[in-house]
Amino acid sequence: MKLNITCIPGDGIGPEIVAEAKKVLDKVAEVYGHEITYKDILMGGASIDVHGVPLTDEAIADAKAADAVLMGSIGGNTSTSPWYQLPPEKRPEAGLLKIRKALNLFANLRPAVLYQELSDACPLRKDISDRGFDLLIMRELTGGLYFGARHTTEVDGVRTAVDTLTYNENEIRRIAIKAFDIARKRRGIVTSVDKANVLDSSRLWRKVVEEVAKDYPDITLSHMLVDNCAMQLVRDPSQFDVILTENMFGDILSDEASMVTGSIGMLASASLNDSKFGLYEPSHGSAPDIAGMDIANPIATILSAAMMLRYSFDLDKEADAIEMAVKSILKKGYRTADIMAEGCEKVGCSRMGDLLADEISR
Ligand code: NAD
Ligand code: IPM
Ligand code: MN
Repeated sequence: MKLNITCIPGDGIGPEIVAEAKKVLDKVAEVYGHEITYKDILMGGASIDVHGVPLTDEAIADAKAADAVLMGSIGGNTSTSPWYQLPPEKRPEAGLLKIRKALNLFANLRPAVLYQELSDACPLRKDISDRGFDLLIMRELTGGLYFGARHTTEVDGVRTAVDTLTYNENEIRRIAIKAFDIARKRRGIVTSVDKANVLDSSRLWRKVVEEVAKDYPDITLSHMLVDNCAMQLVRDPSQFDVILTENMFGDILSDEASMVTGSIGMLASASLNDSKFGLYEPSHGSAPDIAGMDIANPIATILSAAMMLRYSFDLDKEADAIEMAVKSILKKGYRTADIMAEGCEKVGCSRMGDLLADEISR
């Protein structure tokens, strides 16, 4: 099969982790007889430095022309990088929001799985980590606070900033349908997370999710308030199968869920529209504090590449091979610094990529 992939290395550790994902994909292509062509585009700070804007129309066109997009991460240190002296719409993150909207990537799937091999890196009590967990956060990605109107004014020396959180029922319905469909292929449980005790947008969210649920009598639906969910994720993550939630709640809960898997360096993601097209990126950021040091964990990006093979190319066996390689390498005791444990061998980013590529087999 021919795979036409556009890559966005981005900023910070982005180029390092994308290089390792390509290494693993190339090995998959060799072993399974596929042909991959890559085209790199600039986004975030890397694009600002060259073009003065975080994403050009040409780059969007290149992304659209591909079968799928593989991304690292964008952004810099938000306190010290000169990129954050620019107006908000010219900063690195604006590029990411623009590409998500331009490609209509409304469904962000963030699977948080505790590999038994990594239970020593899980910060939860041993009886909880021994139980393991395998949950999927289905985060709405093109609505809510991220895309509502915002402005800052100053009247009589008093500054006021406004961000608006808007959802219409169509936006809620389509992400709910995605969540119920995917729950059907999993354990059949959807927990819809909102703040319906305060927010109108959450009350509409709950109503529409209930309406969609009528078409899925085989799925068990419950509702949970977001503050409780944040607590339940560290009390007992094994209670969750699919967590369905809006944009900002999903952003925050997914970082929390990542840490209970051992590290944010383990959390993959897929951002999908209604077709086979998707953008695949780790859930973490550009980690400016460790950029260029060859110590970042590339596994989240490599598992995102596996999601790409599964969702955009229907290459399930190949995706399985990557996931099995990750388990096998962890079992053999190789660890990057973020998941290091006693008795294991510490390896850098590029060595982890080499080990995983070598582990790929039919
Ligand atoms: P971050 O996720 O980049 O880093 C948080 C902490 O986790 C840091 O200590 C970092 O070293 C560590 N970390 C992250 N990924 C790691 C990995 N693969 N291996 C080992 N350690 C890892 O979050 P932040 O520091 O809040 O944000 C830094 C920049 O990244 C900001 O500009 C932010 O806007 C951007 N960001 C981008 C994305 C994205 O591109 N999708 C996501 C989140 C944050
Ligand atoms: C993520 C990131 C982004 C988000 C930022 C960089 C805009 O945190 O992908 O989780 O908040 O969606
Ligand atoms: Mn985030």
